[in-house]
Amino acid sequence: MAEKVVLAYSGGLDTSVAIKWLQKNYKLDVIAVNIDVGNEKDFSAVRQKALDIGAIKAEVVDAKELFVKYFIFPALQANALYEGQYPLATALTRPLMAKLMVDVAIEEGASAIAHGCTGKGNDQVRFDVSINALAPEMKIIAPAREWGMTREETIAYAKSHNIPIPVTVSSPYSIDECLWGKSIECGALEDPWAEPPEDAFTWTVSADRAPDKPQYIEIEFQEGIPVSLDGQALDGITLISRLNEIAGKHGIGRIDHIENRVVGIKSREIYEAPAAVTLIQAHQALESMTLSKDQLRFKQKVAQEYADLIYNGLWFSQLNQDLSAYVLSSQRYVTGTVRMKLYKGHASVVGRKSPTSLYNLSLATYDVGDRFDQSASNGFIKLWGLPVKTQAQVQLLGGKEGPLSIMSPEEKKED
Ligand code: ARG
Repeated sequence: MAEKVVLAYSGGLDTSVAIKWLQKNYKLDVIAVNIDVGNEKDFSAVRQKALDIGAIKAEVVDAKELFVKYFIFPALQANALYEGQYPLATALTRPLMAKLMVDVAIEEGASAIAHGCTGKGNDQVRFDVSINALAPEMKIIAPAREWGMTREETIAYAKSHNIPIPVTVSSPYSIDECLWGKSIECGALEDPWAEPPEDAFTWTVSADRAPDKPQYIEIEFQEGIPVSLDGQALDGITLISRLNEIAGKHGIGRIDHIENRVVGIKSREIYEAPAAVTLIQAHQALESMTLSKDQLRFKQKVAQEYADLIYNGLWFSQLNQDLSAYVLSSQRYVTGTVRMKLYKGHASVVGRKSPTSLYNLSLATYDVGDRFDQSASNGFIKLWGLPVKTQAQVQLLGGKEGPLSIMSPEEKKED
């Protein structure tokens, strides 16, 4: 009996060809696993296709709940944005997929795991690093990294082996979708000067075609997790899907990013992430009301580290556990409601309230009811400015290179 390989199967061209290629080149029996992370597809057709091509078994794993609970929500609580822009949709799915594939491989007694990544992207790094961390004995095969076929050659290979060519092959873009967003690459997008063609987008309308009337929504968070939309309690999957629709309709969540890949390439990436963009913004607004200044400053640094770690494929590291422990602890009082206005490509925060708010009207107001002791400011400022005053007397004002040296000689003379 042949040894078995578990293949991460998407139903697309490369992984379909991979089923045949693994059988022929590695003499392995292929178990195709399709993991549903919210990338709406006709899963029974995908399953059947794998079997028709020759997989000995084909499974669909519904991973949406795990994805929301253990990947999306922690990333949202951290406000994780790679290089300040990309909400990490694709990047978050790979460690989860790796984990589920390892589970199937162990259950099936397979000796190898295969995936459809090329040798140029981040996804191969995320898959391989995660699989190695979870099951170091497992062999990893990445056919598209090995076979050296161009796209045309892959299509020819498919035709000569009676592998149905997916209709998406006619699409000029490479696409990856999950609940947290859609990643779009290739084709006309590779010219960083060219505006992305409208047909690259399917989750969002362009801002100029968005409704002329704004829509107001209210998002309620409990300890940093969104639990209701417009007063209606919703599970995570429903809430995110609904927000993708609502915000997408207003043209929110288009991202155009020149991104630094792990493998050293800069690439132009387009994303659509209406729910992610809206939720991160709302969550940040609630944090500014419920976290102290120092917590907010520190958390920004953590968010950047956390985003890098996710992007770089290091999910199964102790650093992840350390950082997420901090993030979770920071969310204890991030409870409340944020009101947003969705209009022509923008989600703006227009209101926020929280039972654990640190905003204190009697301290902030300039009207009656002011309880801020203004007389205390005098002494405070004396001490706060003491080091500046001391230094300025000894070093700055006398020196040629001091702050006054930016003034012209004439101005200095007048001094
Ligand atoms: N650049 C993004 C990332 O690294 C998107 C990758 C899209 N992946 C794909 N297989 N199409 O996360």
